[in-house]
Amino acid sequence: MERWFALPVAKELDRFAAALGAMPDCTEKTFLQACFSAVVRRVCLADPAISVPVKLNPERASLTSAQRDDRRRWLAERHNADVEAIFHQIVAANVLRMGRLEAVAGSTAKSLILDNVRSLDSSLRADLVITSPPYGSAQKYVRSSSLSLIWLGLAPDGLRAIEKLTIGREHFLKNEVASGLPEESLTFAADALERIGKKNATRRHIAAQFLIEMQSALVDIEAAIRPGGVLILVVGDNIVCGERFATTRYLAAICTELGFEIELELVDSIRSRGLITRRNRSVGYIAEETILVLRKPASGGNGR
Ligand SMILES: C[S@@+](CC[C@H](N)C(=O)[O-])C[C@H]1O[C@@H](n2cnc3c(N)ncnc32)[C@H](O)[C@@H]1O
Repeated sequence: MERWFALPVAKELDRFAAALGAMPDCTEKTFLQACFSAVVRRVCLADPAISVPVKLNPERASLTSAQRDDRRRWLAERHNADVEAIFHQIVAANVLRMGRLEAVAGSTAKSLILDNVRSLDSSLRADLVITSPPYGSAQKYVRSSSLSLIWLGLAPDGLRAIEKLTIGREHFLKNEVASGLPEESLTFAADALERIGKKNATRRHIAAQFLIEMQSALVDIEAAIRPGGVLILVVGDNIVCGERFATTRYLAAICTELGFEIELELVDSIRSRGLITRRNRSVGYIAEETILVLRKPASGGNGR
């Protein structure tokens, strides 16, 4: 606690966490929890330029003098953070966002945020699914949100238990790697998997598991989309063991195999500062992402 938060700030966070914990489960609670999660990120003593928690350190040798100044300022702000004011600010900004969503989607449209695509409710039906699935293996999503998860009491069994639910996870037992995976349906990525496997069997396992689970998730998503409906995938490639892992092409292949038609393919550069760290570059950060707009045919397709 002392490592990641100034004491007065931690005391204030504790008041909010207790109040949220006492709320009955409802959508408003989820909304406020999401806002609180952003507050935690804003007031913790972790470097905001790095996606996983790394202690803010203005003296790090690799920093330029402007970067040192930023970190000194951030540290001072975070030691004296007014949690209540920041909470109100974030709630107000998110209320505006929700208003903009309603302006686009209409007030009668229902939207649903799903927390685990590996256990989709098979009765779900949607006209539009938007998802930004995980990168093959360049990000540590659970660690990135670990401080918020812990404050919200959402990790009662530890972070590993959550990581096990995620797609693109990186921890596997030796015997899991040794026993291999059913890769027959991954012909579109066979060459890349083979090249990666020659360098590192664990990395190959991680990559193949990622594709198998994305394939299964996309089968469920296709089933949930009404004929004529749309899937929007925001996806980026990465580098695994020095080999380009063409996630965009692989997911597009899975989708077209499922009967989706690619309507639009937009390429965007990733500007988020949080992702551009030296480590990310060395493990295979690629500064581009693709937005795929895919349509399920109004009739035909896979016959659903
Ligand atoms: C490329 S990021 C997209 C982040 C998103 N745009 C956002 O702003 O939160 C991929 C996200 O997929 C999430 N994820 C991983 N496994 C998942 C699963 N089984 N179900 C749902 N989301 C999952 C990760 O935790 C991560 O937040």
